[in-house]
Formats: sequence, structure tokens, C-alpha cells
Amino acid sequence: MCGIVAYVGEKNAYEILIKGLKRLEYRGYDSAGVAMISNNHEFLHYKCKGKVSNLEEHVGQQSVDAHIGIGHTRWATHGPANDVNAHPHLSGNEELALIHNGIIENYDVLKKELTSRGHNFVSDTDTEVLVHLIEEVKKQEDVGLFEAVRLALHQVTGAYAIVVIDKSNPRELIAAKKSSPLVIGMGEDDFFIGSDATPIVEYTNNVVYLEDGEIAHISLDTGLKIRKLDNKVITPTIQELQIQLEALEKGGYEHFMLKEIFEQPKTIKDCMRGRISAQKGHVSLGGILDYQDKILNARRMIIIACGTSWHAGLVGEYLLEDLARIPVEVEYASEFRYRNPVIYEDDVVLAISQSGETADTLAAIKLAKEKGATILGICNVVGSTISRETHAGSYTHAGPEIGVASTKAFTAQVTVLSLLALMLAKRKGTVEKSRLNRLLFELESIPDKVTEALKTDAACELISEIYKNSSNALYLGRGYSFPVALEGALKLKEISYIHAEGYPAAEMKHGPIALIDEEMPVFVVATKGPSYEKVISNIQEVKARKGKVIVISTKGDEYIKEMADHYIEIPETEEMFMPILATIPFQLLSYHMAVMRGCNVDQPRNLAKAVTVE
Ligand code: M6R
Repeated sequence: MCGIVAYVGEKNAYEILIKGLKRLEYRGYDSAGVAMISNNHEFLHYKCKGKVSNLEEHVGQQSVDAHIGIGHTRWATHGPANDVNAHPHLSGNEELALIHNGIIENYDVLKKELTSRGHNFVSDTDTEVLVHLIEEVKKQEDVGLFEAVRLALHQVTGAYAIVVIDKSNPRELIAAKKSSPLVIGMGEDDFFIGSDATPIVEYTNNVVYLEDGEIAHISLDTGLKIRKLDNKVITPTIQELQIQLEALEKGGYEHFMLKEIFEQPKTIKDCMRGRISAQKGHVSLGGILDYQDKILNARRMIIIACGTSWHAGLVGEYLLEDLARIPVEVEYASEFRYRNPVIYEDDVVLAISQSGETADTLAAIKLAKEKGATILGICNVVGSTISRETHAGSYTHAGPEIGVASTKAFTAQVTVLSLLALMLAKRKGTVEKSRLNRLLFELESIPDKVTEALKTDAACELISEIYKNSSNALYLGRGYSFPVALEGALKLKEISYIHAEGYPAAEMKHGPIALIDEEMPVFVVATKGPSYEKVISNIQEVKARKGKVIVISTKGDEYIKEMADHYIEIPETEEMFMPILATIPFQLLSYHMAVMRGCNVDQPRNLAKAVTVE
């Protein structure tokens, strides 16, 4: 949540900040702002409600000549989205400007204290309190900006990634982080900061990831210096970025979401590259290989995740129990962290996260770590906080996912979980060799089958035209297809704002069946597999109540065509890999319905890509 970008060097800061904010907009898009220091040491400060394009219009043709600046795109936590609450915020004396991602939990106490000392606040934000606090400490202690930030942060509880500038020093940026990510880009003779690497990659591949409790002093005179809050000196570790610039562009597609849906044959292949060879009977996840026996000897595996990643976790539960016979529990990270769960030292906790920054998942990891469990991760963003907080893990290698609705990340997560389950099954001998080999061949063929499944796009568009004005929708599936139903419903509601529920098909008669009438579209995964007959009965139950049935069926299934109001055919596969294929039409249906309803597909209202606040 919230995008942060900052620059100091010889280049035009405004251009870098605006370009950076556009790349970061997926993190929050309620309001945007920039503050730069002009050549005569004045702040050039612009901010407004809405998107980065609004900010650009607001700045208009004014000449913005500055070589240092900070920029922010907001996802509102404290105070509504309006011009005043937009970042950057200025100190009371208007000497300092600050941008912030996170939540200052004790802001109210600090605000009262600062108010009693004569500070006046103009916004409703916790961020403004922080910049006033730094100003107060700077004045009281008579110290420079770095020291003032360091001392002020001792008084703060909560999560933050901040960048501060002082208008009397246009050669210096101060940045600090706790529980919200911050990356520093090392240019030839300049420096960049981002809440992720996307605004930096165009200029340099050399980055330093700031760790929790660290403050960076970035100066054109003395370079990058990092200290801990307790003043201990840290030697920065420079890492090389692997992101390609094209991955951050739409590449001719109208939306990032559509591009990402159509990338899936490639991303799934990338995810499997070097990890599986059916010919050789080989399957392995390098990052987790050394932990195989730990997992197999574990009391149980607990999967923690949020949103779409949690749905992938449910598929993982089915796979791991089915193939490797390991007991698995799947938990919402946000519930797990607060419900005083029983965690044993011989538990293995597997965190799944696209961004690798989700606050609840991170907190759940920390809790499980404290209790002595082994923590593994499946992340997409290389170098993300979760990937660094876990003992070991595997990347999904799906490339940057910019659309807020997760698509290619989900199928890549399920692919990694499939590889993990197969690797463990092989090691444990729970699956007969010939069957294991069949499964390996089948998994290798999935990218081609995804290409086939993507050919349903035209059918999905036609069906979307019919149901785009629905107020409600029901998604049903059984077994491995139950998480697909949940994911289909989440996709529809988050980007088209149609209310949708995902249910295990058999549970329908325990309540949701009351909702069914001729107005209700019911999307059912009814592919060939062990529960096929049962799902047919569920479809009949819907039809008997005049519900409209849209079926995802196996190619060539004539019987179901007769029964359904509409059908979308996908290739046949093993039941356990069906979630990867069956989710594709659901992604396309929600995409088209959202576009037809005029919704902002890539940046749906109230949402943000990385949920770094709880
Ligand atoms: O980055 P993560 O995978 O940890 O994010 C978890 C959820 O916030 C995310 O999947 C969210 O539900 C998506 N918007 C779903 O499309």
C-alpha cells in the first residue's frame, strides 16, 4: 500500500518522480503528490486527490526544475482521500517534507503531545504527526536531519517506510524502514528510492534493500551510509535486480490484467524451468530441497496466506495431503496471528505471497518463528521481505504482476505447490512410480493446455455480455475445484463490484440455494473427474430452481452441454492440475464483465496491490 519514490542527483527529479509514481500506482491510487527542493532552496510542493495523471494536470506547464525530490501515491488509512491528506506532508516550519507508507499506531498520543507544544496540524493523517515530531526533535536536540529522524523513530510504534528531505540541504535524503519495504537504487552518481524496485529498474540494477530498524543517510557528498536505530553502523549489501523493463509495460494489451492472463503459458513454464523433467523422472525445488526431510518428519504443515494466495494454499492442502500424505492446515494469516494458535517446534509453516510484503502474512511468520517452527515461503517478488524472513523457499518466477487482481501469480503458486507435493511424494514413496511419472508428464503439458484454455476468451466475452448487469453470482466447485470457485468469486467481486460467493457445490443446499432464482448466474466447475456425477446433481438442483448455469466443462462433454445454459470447454487433465486450467475462464469472465461495466480493471476501487498494513 502506498508507493514511495525519491531521487537525488543531477537528473530532472520531477520526471523521475512522475514516471516512478506511474509505475507504483498499483500500490495505491487515492491521491498523489511530490515535493522537490528548487535551486533557490524552496519547496516545490504539489499534491492532489486522485491518480498520478491528476497530479500531472495539477502541475501543468509550470517549470519544475529540481534535482532532489520525494513522491507518493496513497492508499488511505488515516483520513479520507483528499488533497490535504495526500503526501508529502510538511513540518510546521515548512522546512521538512516527508512521505510515508505504513501506520503510526501511537500517532494520537504523539499528536496531543505535539499540539500541547504549539504544533498545528492541517491533515487527518498519522504521517503529518511524524514530520512534526522530527521537526520538534531536531529543534529540541539541536541535531541534523539524520539524527532527528533516528531519535524521533524511538518514540514511534507501528509500521513505516519513510523518506524525509530538508529544504536547506538539497543534496541529502534520509530514509528509514520498519515492516514496510524500501529499496535504494545506486546510480553512477545519483540515488533512487522506491517502495519496490519498479521505479528504479530503468536507471540502475544495483540496489540495497533496507532492513527493519535501519536508517539510510543518502548524500551526494558522502554516499550511502546505513545505521540501525541504536546507531550501530551497517555495511550495505548491493544486490542485482533481475526485473526486465518490458515486464512493467502493457505490451500492447489494453490492461495489465489481460496481459498477465495471457502470459500464463509462459509464466507457468518459467515456474517449472529446471525443476521438472518427466523424461528423467525428476522433480525438485532447489530452494526447499534441503528441507524435504524436515517437512516429511514434521508434525504437520500450516499454510498461511491472504486473498488469492490463500486460495492457492487450499489447492496446496489438497495436493500435499493427496500425494505426499502430509497433514496440512490452511489459515488466513490475519486470523492465525491473533488467535493464539498452537504451534509446535516440529511444525513447518509455509507462507504464500505474491508481493512478499503482506503485513498479516509477515506477522504470522514472525509469530511462528518465535515458537520455533520452520518457516518456508512461496513468493513472486524476488528479494521481498517475506522471501528474506523465511528459512527457505521457492520463487514462482511469474514476473511482475501489476494488475491488482492476482492472476498469473495464482497459477504459478499452484504450480510450485504441485511441484512441491510431487517432490515430497517421490521422496516419501507415497505415489507409485508409474503414476508419478504420468503426473510429471501431465504437469509438463499444462502450459500448452493453458494456451488452449485461453482460446475460451471469445466465449467468455459473449457470456459476460449476458451477465454483466447481474447483481449477484454464485460459484460452485467440489474437491480441487472448490478453491477455484472461491477464486472465481473473488476475481469477479474485486474488479467488477458484482457480489459473488464461492461455495463447495454440495454446501449449496445448506443455505445458498435460497438465493437461486431466474436472475442468479451460477458458475460451476463440472470437469470430468471423481466428483463429476455429484456436480451434475448440484447443477440439476440449480436448474430446478430456474438458476442460470454457466459450466466450465471438459472438452467434448456433450452431456453437460445439454444441461447448461452456457458452457466453456477446457482441455482434459488430471483432477489435481485442473485448478490451473479451470481458473483461466473465470479470470477472463471477470475481466470482460468489469470492462463492460466501465470499471477500472487494473486499479479497482478501495484496493491496493501489496497490503502492507493490517
Ligand atoms: O501479495 P499477496 O499474495 O500476499 O497478497 C494477498 C492478497 O492481498 C491478494 O491475493 C489479493 O486478494 C488480490 N487482490 C486478489 O486478486
